[in-house]
Amino acid sequence: MKLTPRLKALASLVPLNKAAADIGTDHGYLAAYLVRHNLCPYVIAGDKNEKPLGKARDSVRALKLEGKVLIRLGDGLEVIQESDQVKVIIIAGMGGKTICSILDDGWEKLKGVDILILQPMVDIWLVRRWIIERGFRIKEEKLAKEGDQIYEIIKAGPGEQGPLDDLQLELGPKLLEKRDPLIRPYLLRKLRKCKKVMESFKKSKQEIDPKKYNYWNRLTCKIEEELRCLQEK
Ligand SMILES: C[S@@+](CC[C@H](N)C(=O)[O-])C[C@H]1O[C@@H](n2cnc3c(N)ncnc32)[C@H](O)[C@@H]1O
Repeated sequence: MKLTPRLKALASLVPLNKAAADIGTDHGYLAAYLVRHNLCPYVIAGDKNEKPLGKARDSVRALKLEGKVLIRLGDGLEVIQESDQVKVIIIAGMGGKTICSILDDGWEKLKGVDILILQPMVDIWLVRRWIIERGFRIKEEKLAKEGDQIYEIIKAGPGEQGPLDDLQLELGPKLLEKRDPLIRPYLLRKLRKCKKVMESFKKSKQEIDPKKYNYWNRLTCKIEEELRCLQEK
C-alpha cells in the first residue's frame, strides 16, 4: 500500500504502538496504512460525511482491516470514546479554522491525548496560535511536497511553549530551526506570495491598513533574511 508524500509524512510523525484517531479520514488510506504497517494497534477513522466514510469502508474491507480500523460517522472528536484510549489525534487536509474548532468543540476528548498531528491547508498560524494558547507545545514540524504544493505538518503535545510572534506563527519555529529539507522552496513560495501582496498594496488606490502593511513588510524581510542565511550555509 503506497501513500502519497503528504500522507507518508503524516504517518512518519505518528509515535509507535499508540491508539490513534484520524478525524476527517475521507478515503481512510492513512488509517489503513498505520495499522497495516503495525505502527498503531488500531485507528478510529472518523468523518462527518457518509460518502467519504463509504470510501474508507471499501479500503478497509479490501485490505481486511475491519476490527483494526474502526470506521465511525460523526462530527470531529465526537467519534472518540473514553474507552478507546486514543493517544494520538490526526486532523489533516482541512482549513486551519476548521481544525481549531474541531479541537475546541472536542476539548474534553483531548484529556489523555499525547500527540496531535495537524495539517491545515490554509491559515496555519491559527493552528499554531491554538496550540500555544491551549497548553500544548510544538514538538516537530515537517514539510511534504506533492505536485506543486508544499504542505506543512505540525506535531504537538501537552506542555508549555514559549511565546511565538506573528512571524513565527506563520513560518513555523521548528521548520526554521531544524532546516527542513524543503525549507528553501517553501520560503521561496511564501516570498512570492508576500511580493504579490506588497505589489497589490502599491497599486491600491485605497488607503492601506498600516498594521497589515507592516505585517507583510516584516514577513517579506524575515523570509529574505532566512533565505540569505540558507545560502550562506
Ligand atoms: C479534504 S478531506 C481530507 C482527508 C484526509 N484527512 C487527508 O488529509 O487526505 C477532508 C475530510 O474531512 C471531513 N470533515 C470535514 N469537517 C469535519 C468534521 N468537523 N468532522 C469530521 N470530518 C470532517 C470531510 O467530510 C472530508 O472527508
